[in-house]
Amino acid sequence: MPLPTQPTLDFVTGLPKAELHLHLEGTLEPDLKLRLAERNGVDIGQSTVEDVQATYRFTDLTSFLAVYYPAMDVLQTEDDFFELAHAYLLRAAANGVKHAEMFFDPQAHTARGVPFEAVVKGYHRAAAAAADFGVDADLIMCFLRDLSAESAAETLEASVPFKDLILGVGLDSDERGNPPEKFAGVFARARDLGYRLTMHCDIDQVGSIDNIRTVLETIGVDRIDHGTNIVEDPALVAEVKARGIGLTSCPVSNSFVTDDMKAAEVAQLLRDGVKITINSDDPAYFGGYVADNYAAVAAKAGLTPEEVVTLAKNSFEASWIDEDRRAAYLAEIDRYVEQYEPTEA
Ligand code: HPA
Ligand code: ZN
Repeated sequence: MPLPTQPTLDFVTGLPKAELHLHLEGTLEPDLKLRLAERNGVDIGQSTVEDVQATYRFTDLTSFLAVYYPAMDVLQTEDDFFELAHAYLLRAAANGVKHAEMFFDPQAHTARGVPFEAVVKGYHRAAAAAADFGVDADLIMCFLRDLSAESAAETLEASVPFKDLILGVGLDSDERGNPPEKFAGVFARARDLGYRLTMHCDIDQVGSIDNIRTVLETIGVDRIDHGTNIVEDPALVAEVKARGIGLTSCPVSNSFVTDDMKAAEVAQLLRDGVKITINSDDPAYFGGYVADNYAAVAAKAGLTPEEVVTLAKNSFEASWIDEDRRAAYLAEIDRYVEQYEPTEA
């Protein structure tokens, strides 16, 4: 069976893929938010799904984060974290995700008195259980960059007893005034502890290019989250290409926090041979899981089915799995493409 002439939603949904930029707290769907609010006796100020959705008006990263953090108050027990991650992983499986490297924000919970252990154990239990439905999942612990480097360092030390449950560390939240060098010492220590390193370089920030250069040359990250402003500097594009550094783009999220999906930038980087990948970021807030993101960027940039297959291959190439599993997933993509039969007319 030849490839379809267009990368349809049906084709991209079944395409085996890895999701590498996904905030577990950003998968909190309105119905689960309401259920947990009731169970834990938390007044979130809304009582219907429509009321919750009416608060989802974002014009930039800052206005998104202002809605995102207060909602986390509903997450209190280990079981709450398990349920949140389990619900995401079921949706991911239905989106063709075979491997997920999932961000979580411990400081957003420990700052409210939730034990670190409840967060990491609940999430890890869900990650382990996802093997039953064909997803292998890992955790990446993010530091909140608008908090101090000392707070990040304390969080890093709190993670040490759970090091075997965490694959790497990342950096998220508000980039404005919080450049990567603020966390250089924390990331050096994380590297010494054996963690893989990634950092957000959000879209269209003041100093985006300087921050991308710093994460590559000073911090020495293994991957960059978002980072598509790199197209402004061909020398940095050449550097990520030569070093095989992956970028995790999130088109639907981009269209909420800026006025553009950045599809042209994704297409350019893909055609330049950079390991650019497609991901969903905070799907409960932006309304698109990973297959929707593939379909949206393909339609906007006019990507061919072959190019979409390369995006899926990039997701495993840029992932932090061992070489045997990587080869097995890449072969699974080839088999899918060979055997693909459209299920839609
Ligand atoms: N950028 C920064 N912080 C975040 C994001 C993001 O894309 N998603 C959730 N927290
Ligand atoms: Zn993100």
